Amino acid sequence: MRDTLLPFSVPPIGDAEIDEVVAALRSGWITTGPRTRTFEQAFAKFTGAGAALALNSGTGALHVALAALGVGPGAAVITTALTFCSGVHVIEQMGARPVLVDVEPDTLNIDPAQVERAALALRPGERLAAVMPVHLYGHACDRMSLIRIARRHGCALVEDAAHSFPSRYEGKTIGAAEDVGVPVLTAFSFYATKNLTTGEGGMLTGPPELIEEARLWSLHGMSGDAWKRGHGNHASWFYEVTRPGFKYNMSDIQAALGMAQLQKVSRFGIRRAEIAARYNDAFGSLEELRIPAHRSRIEHAWHVYAVRLNPDKLKIPRDEFIEELRGRNIAASVHFIPIHLHPYYRDRYGYKANDFPVAYREYQKLVSLPIYPTMHDRDIDDVIEAVTEIVTHNRKAAGLMTGHAGLPVPQSR
Ligand SMILES: Cc1ncc(COP(=O)(O)O)c(C=O)c1O
Repeated sequence: MRDTLLPFSVPPIGDAEIDEVVAALRSGWITTGPRTRTFEQAFAKFTGAGAALALNSGTGALHVALAALGVGPGAAVITTALTFCSGVHVIEQMGARPVLVDVEPDTLNIDPAQVERAALALRPGERLAAVMPVHLYGHACDRMSLIRIARRHGCALVEDAAHSFPSRYEGKTIGAAEDVGVPVLTAFSFYATKNLTTGEGGMLTGPPELIEEARLWSLHGMSGDAWKRGHGNHASWFYEVTRPGFKYNMSDIQAALGMAQLQKVSRFGIRRAEIAARYNDAFGSLEELRIPAHRSRIEHAWHVYAVRLNPDKLKIPRDEFIEELRGRNIAASVHFIPIHLHPYYRDRYGYKANDFPVAYREYQKLVSLPIYPTMHDRDIDDVIEAVTEIVTHNRKAAGLMTGHAGLPVPQSR
């Protein structure tokens, strides 16, 4: 057993990041400015996006995406029950109604069949403004089916790609420009644990006109940012407020960090995939565990490696499994507690746990294991050893399975 805790995530910050940040600090300009513009352009080039807007969080990217699309009272946005709260929060904050739907049992991504069903069951007079899928864990959702649904209902697609940089779906980079007949905006997060980090940060990609609209919303609705007003041939103190905008602009300090990370992100991705492959090899044959789904023609970003426990084969529940890992100095987590179980959403919409049965059932089995590029081979071995040991010590005796209440039931049932 290892003698020190293996953290769940450690940001891969090297000398290049430190040098870039120091250069930004010494430059005399630390808020949104030339480095932010350079980062936006480099990110757009990397993903093949029509345009990109840098923000101070992924949440901000989702929020300005909805604002740019004019989402407000009377609108509904369909999203997944198994995600982080921020995407659902921004729907609420815009005065629209979040419509949660269940997930596919294999990928745990939003289930297009449930999206279609929800789209046909809106409240009288309500308008479907957008579908907001999450490319959960770094595995793209079935976006072609969602685009077809969006076309049929005349709504936008706002992709939450917080976990999915970089990743590809059927040969297409998530965030790349495309003409699919409906507006597509894609939000990325650069939070401390993400595949590319700026400490806190985010990016929105999409068609140039929508990105320019989102840009206005991201900075108080002002007609120009401070850099534009203070520099160049058209320098002017004058600005106009055109919308009741937010304060979501990225700083040049964050952008400096982002530029350094962008040079390395492909290498980071290779390491993440190597770690996932080691875990898959080690756990794929254990019937007590289910390794993550990986459909063909998907290039996985491997942001989260979520293994699922098989309650029919293990004597201990998920929470105890995580405690056992902790006892062996391995930090683990759960992605995510389904939205409808949180008190705010449960009470506001009167949800019951089983309203989204797949999300609820699978949530109880989820264990996210450490996966990040600075993990050493020895760290990966430690995780594999700890997981294997816990499984071995906690196998159920053959011939017994448990029902939902945890009671032993005959195997034939
Ligand atoms: C699925 C998902 N969406 C959105 C976000 C929000 O990103 P941020 O923390 O950059 O605001 C996160 C953050 O972890 C996330 O996991």
